[in-house]
Amino acid sequence: MAGEIGRKTEHWGSRFGFIMASVGSAVGLGNFWRFPYTAGENGGGAFILFYIICVLLIGLPLLMAEYAMGRKSGMSAIEGIQSLARAESRSQNWGVAGWVGSLTSFFILSFYMVISTWLMAFLIQSFGGFEGMDAASSGQNFVDTIGQGEHPMRSKWYMLGLLAVFLVANIIIVGRGVKGGIEKAATLLMPAFFIMLLVVVGFSIANGDTGKAVSFIFEPKWEDVGFKTFLAALGQAFFSLSIGVGLMITYGAYLEPDTNIPRSSGLIVASDTLVALIAGFAIFPIVFSAGLDPSSGPSLFFISMPVAFGSIPGGAIIAPVFFGLALFAAFTSSISLMEVAVSWLEERQGVTRLGASIGVGYVLFMIGAAYVFSLEYLDFMDFMTEGLLLPLGGLLASYFAGWVLSREMLTSELGEGTIMNAWRFLIRWFVPPFIFLILVFGFMDKIQ
Ligand code: PFF
Repeated sequence: MAGEIGRKTEHWGSRFGFIMASVGSAVGLGNFWRFPYTAGENGGGAFILFYIICVLLIGLPLLMAEYAMGRKSGMSAIEGIQSLARAESRSQNWGVAGWVGSLTSFFILSFYMVISTWLMAFLIQSFGGFEGMDAASSGQNFVDTIGQGEHPMRSKWYMLGLLAVFLVANIIIVGRGVKGGIEKAATLLMPAFFIMLLVVVGFSIANGDTGKAVSFIFEPKWEDVGFKTFLAALGQAFFSLSIGVGLMITYGAYLEPDTNIPRSSGLIVASDTLVALIAGFAIFPIVFSAGLDPSSGPSLFFISMPVAFGSIPGGAIIAPVFFGLALFAAFTSSISLMEVAVSWLEERQGVTRLGASIGVGYVLFMIGAAYVFSLEYLDFMDFMTEGLLLPLGGLLASYFAGWVLSREMLTSELGEGTIMNAWRFLIRWFVPPFIFLILVFGFMDKIQ
C-alpha cells in the first residue's frame, strides 16, 4: 500500500553538497556533446536565444517546482506525486506523471551510458595522442572504436567490458547512498571538472581561432529557425537541467528544511547554462583552426576533436584532460539517473540500496549490450526522449504543480512574496501552454 511508505530519512550532508550533486547531474554530455552541435545545427545565436528563454521561463520554474514537490512529499517522483495528490484529495492517477518521468530517466541512462563508454575508450586512446590524424582516419577510428568497424567483435567485446566497468562504478557510488555516495562523488569530481574545463578553454582560446568560434556560437542564423528550433531548444533545456524526469523531485526529497529552493535553483541553472556556453569555447576555436566542419553532428566530439588535438602543439597533453573532464561530467549525471530507479525500488519494494543498484545495473547492462550492437536504437532513444518524453514529463509535472496543488501547499517550500507570485504565474499560465504548443507543432515539424 502506498500509504505505508514513509518520508525519506536520509539528507544531503550540506547545502554545498546538494548543489554539487545537482550541478553534477545537470552538467554532463548535454553540455558538451549535445549543446554545441544542437546549437550549430539550429541557428547558432538564434538557438542560444531561445535556449536561454526556455531555461529562464520554463526550466527554472520547473526545477523549483520539482524540488518543492520532492521536499514537501519527502519521497521519490512516483510516490511523491501520488502522495501530494492524495493530500489535496484529488485524482489517484497522478502517479502516471511520475512514471513518465522515471521511465524517461531510465531510457536516457540506457543511451547515456553507451556514449560514456565511448568517452572512456577515447580517454584511453588520448594518452597515446592523436598525432597525424586526418578527418578520414579519425572517422575510421571512431567507427572502429565504437564497435562498428572492421573488427566488429573485437571492439564490441572491448566496449562491453568498458560498459561493465562504468556500470560497476555507478553501482558502487549509488549503492553507498545519497550522502556517502552521490554527494561525495560530486563534491570531489565537480570542482576538479571546473578546473579542467578552465584549462582546456584557456588552451583552446590561446591556440585556436577564437574569433570564428565567437561568431559561430553567437551569430544568429535566422534562416535555420523553425518550430523544430523551439522543440530542440526546449528538449535541450530539459535534458541539460535534468528536469521533466522526476529526478529533481527525488533530490528534493533529501533536502533539509532550511535550504532555500529558489536561490539554489537559480545557482544550479546559472552554472549549467554557463558551462554549456563555455563548452563551445573548449571545442570550436581549435576545431576551426584545424579547418574542420563545426556542425557535423555528434561526430564533432569524437571525430573532429581528435583531429584538432592531433594537429596542435600541446594537444597531446590537453586531449586526456578534455576527455577526462567530459567523463567526470557524464559520470556524475549517470549516477543521478540511476538514483531515480534505485530510490523508488528502495522506497516501494523494500529492497536495500545496494541490491536495487545491482538490479538496475544488471538490467542496464543487458540493454546496453543491445545498443552496442545496434546504433539505431541509440538514435531512436535520443530522439524519443528529447523530442517527446522529456517535454511530456515536464508538461505533466508543471500542470500538476500549478493547477492541481494549491498555493498554500508549496508556500512552506518556496515562501511567499514576489518570487512565489512570479513562480506561480509562470507555472500556471506560461509553462504548460508553452510546452504544449512547442510539443505539438515541433514534433509534427520534426517527423515530417
Ligand atoms: N543533464 C544531463 C546532461 O546534460 O548531460 C543529462 C541528464 C541527467 C538528463 C539526469 C536527465 C537526468 F535526469
